[in-house]
Amino acid sequence: MLGMGTDIGIDLGTASVLVYVKNKGIVLNEPSVVAIDKNTEKILAVGEEARQMLGRTPGNIVAIRPLRDGVISNYDITEKMLRYFIHKVCGTRKIFKPRIIVCIPTGVTQVEKRAVIDATNQAGARKTYLIEEPVAAAIGAGLDITKPSGSMVVDIGGGTSDIAVISMGGIVVSASIRVAGDKLDEAIVRYMRKKYNLLIGERSAEALKIGIGCAFPREENITMEARGRNLVTGLPKTHMVTSEEMMEALEEPTTAIMESVHSVIEKTPPEVISDISDKGIVLTGGGAMLYGLDKFLEERMSIPVRLADDPISCVAIGTGKALESLDILEGSLITTNRSSG
Ligand SMILES: Nc1ncnc2c1ncn2[C@@H]1O[C@H](COP(=O)(O)OP(=O)(O)OP(=O)(O)O)[C@@H](O)[C@H]1O
Ligand SMILES: [Mg+2]
Repeated sequence: MLGMGTDIGIDLGTASVLVYVKNKGIVLNEPSVVAIDKNTEKILAVGEEARQMLGRTPGNIVAIRPLRDGVISNYDITEKMLRYFIHKVCGTRKIFKPRIIVCIPTGVTQVEKRAVIDATNQAGARKTYLIEEPVAAAIGAGLDITKPSGSMVVDIGGGTSDIAVISMGGIVVSASIRVAGDKLDEAIVRYMRKKYNLLIGERSAEALKIGIGCAFPREENITMEARGRNLVTGLPKTHMVTSEEMMEALEEPTTAIMESVHSVIEKTPPEVISDISDKGIVLTGGGAMLYGLDKFLEERMSIPVRLADDPISCVAIGTGKALESLDILEGSLITTNRSSG
């Protein structure tokens, strides 16, 4: 259990929640899923246990992803999920309330920010701070963002792609689009339905994306089996699909991400652009691990692109590091009032 004065950083993601504790690193990493009994409204499971239930629950049980699309789509459930994770990390003794810094996508509305702050305070924070996702991602990727030299980060998560040019601790230009990992999965589901009359689940689509998907041709055209239901007969069916087909399936969302990166570059001041051309664009987030996405962006933007080390952990690590230098980063952090409880 953690003692008094402990600060924690939370990457409240669409796909997963990571909790970082000062001097300990990442202590929790679980899917953002909650299973609920619809009749009693009781929470049956949170995290990995609940994820196993996605798409497999009987009538009275629902497995919910409360943060679909990178924002809080279900406030009550998000609060309960946060409370569960915070208690798991801090224990339930109310006296030791931590200060919590939560990472949010850029471009969320004031109402959405308020919702995150309220949920975190309700879940047991003494004080809540917010940090924008690409700022945390940049810190976590090891970029020194306090210098007067521009860096560009593209964080591709499950729900949102956050693109930002950062200099001297602040965001110079940014964009956030709701096209990321989930949209890639959905594109695969659509492709399989259209081309093969095969209905596959989102988890199978994700497995195809990770296994054979790509944004740039693979050296070898590899194949993988897709299992689902034949929409004509209604019966189970499997089909072999190739990585070339997956690239075709993913073309629309990967192009949308590329165009958004392009639009941010267009709005970036020339001095800063030359910094970025020297240093390259850094990709973070699980969605950035799509095979060849770095090469695809590099080719289209004519700027070097590199995938950060441990892309999935960058935001949580950056959120944690931000805690350690709250004073330096105060400008790029949004401080909030104390919780009432
Ligand atoms: N090897 C891989 N190739 C392609 N995609 C991957 C790979 N590994 C994970 N992903 C995808 O990464 C996404 C999750 O990334 P991440 O954990 O960064 O999201 P998040 O932070 O929870 O979401 P957000 O930041 O949008 O709220 C999922 O869509 C997942 O399918
Ligand atoms: Mg994220």
